[in-house]
Amino acid sequence: MTHPNPTDEKPWLDIDRKPFIKIRNLTKKFGDVVAVDNISLDIYENELFSLLGGSGCGKSTLLRMLAGFEIPTSGTIEIDGQNMLAVPPHARPTNMMFQSYALFPHMNVAKNVGYGLRRDGLQKAEIDIQVSEILELVQLGGYEKRKPSQLSGGQRQRVALARALIKKPKLLLLDEPLGALDKKLREETQFELINIQETLGVTFIVVTHDQEEAMTLSTRIGVMDIGTIAQIGEPQEVYEFPRTRYVADFIGSVNLFEGRVIKDSPNKLVIESPDAGINIHVPHGVSCSPNQLLWFALRPEKFEISVAKPKNVTNLLKGTVEDIAYLGGQSVYLVRLETGRLVRTVRANRDRGAEAPITWQQDVYLTWARSAGVVLTS
Ligand SMILES: Nc1ncnc2c1ncn2[C@@H]1O[C@H](COP(=O)(O)OP(=O)(O)OP(=O)(O)O)[C@@H](O)[C@H]1O
Ligand SMILES: [Mg+2]
Repeated sequence: MTHPNPTDEKPWLDIDRKPFIKIRNLTKKFGDVVAVDNISLDIYENELFSLLGGSGCGKSTLLRMLAGFEIPTSGTIEIDGQNMLAVPPHARPTNMMFQSYALFPHMNVAKNVGYGLRRDGLQKAEIDIQVSEILELVQLGGYEKRKPSQLSGGQRQRVALARALIKKPKLLLLDEPLGALDKKLREETQFELINIQETLGVTFIVVTHDQEEAMTLSTRIGVMDIGTIAQIGEPQEVYEFPRTRYVADFIGSVNLFEGRVIKDSPNKLVIESPDAGINIHVPHGVSCSPNQLLWFALRPEKFEISVAKPKNVTNLLKGTVEDIAYLGGQSVYLVRLETGRLVRTVRANRDRGAEAPITWQQDVYLTWARSAGVVLTS
């Protein structure tokens, strides 16, 4: 599941394309804490860009600087060609939905959503029209008269979203917009969010610490690590080609095998890995120093797990099934290798009974296509 992109347009690959948001060397310090550390980043019109990262890595601070609620210690932000330094929050082409969004408890849904328009002095008739349009969009038509206390958590969150959208900002900043929702509602709302974003043609920056959500929603993801951006890329790119162990581990789960290079040529790399108990063969070189320490990263679903010994394979591991988790569509097998290393593998549950059943304490073989993994040097 990735963000649908009907035109398949990727402005970030076009060097002539002007970014909508241009962040340069942006830093924010709170006393000794460097919350955002020299970040440079371009975001394009109509993107749904996710900022993903662990707690305290600076996501909210970055968003708050874009919205104008936090003044950068150094660096610049340009939105739509305009330097934002001297521009106060209300004069920016942005709106922000806060991490702990607060609806006005004494106002009904329509009043909450129309608040910004009333402050702008619009006529009641005009406000009513716009409120009901935006409530339709977030699928809350007919809820105008309810008070926030009479809504579910998910409905309240959609009211907050409607309130942030009604003034049709060019840039919408969403800080954990789906944080309060349970998994199922969260997934449904993710698709709504994509539809809304496409209908309105607004640029979204969404903060989340849920990697699946980022994969689903985003045109691109910026993975943050203590104030910096560790990697920026399309969801699939960040998943399949993480650049560091931190990113590989943060986006999905991964098996990391530590090892040293014993052969490195343009089309062949051999890693001696005590972790795996074998020499791992990779069909490309990495141009590193001899004997360099590195890591072979392999996603759980890239393993072929079998009871029968596969023939003619270069990379073959042997182990014993220590644990199985049945997840409905797929099963996770934790396999203890002869080296003592525990490996995580996933197999889709296709035709029931079609494959030899794999059970606890069973000896199994693990193999993978030669190009299935990624070699990481940091
Ligand atoms: N007003 C403040 N004064 C001092 N330190 C702050 C302030 N705001 C944030 N920080 C610190 O800056 C760092 C980044 O905080 P930030 O809120 O941006 O993190 P975050 O990535 O949004 O985390 P979370 O996922 O928990 O919301 C943290 O170490 C935090 O303690
Ligand atoms: Mg935050």
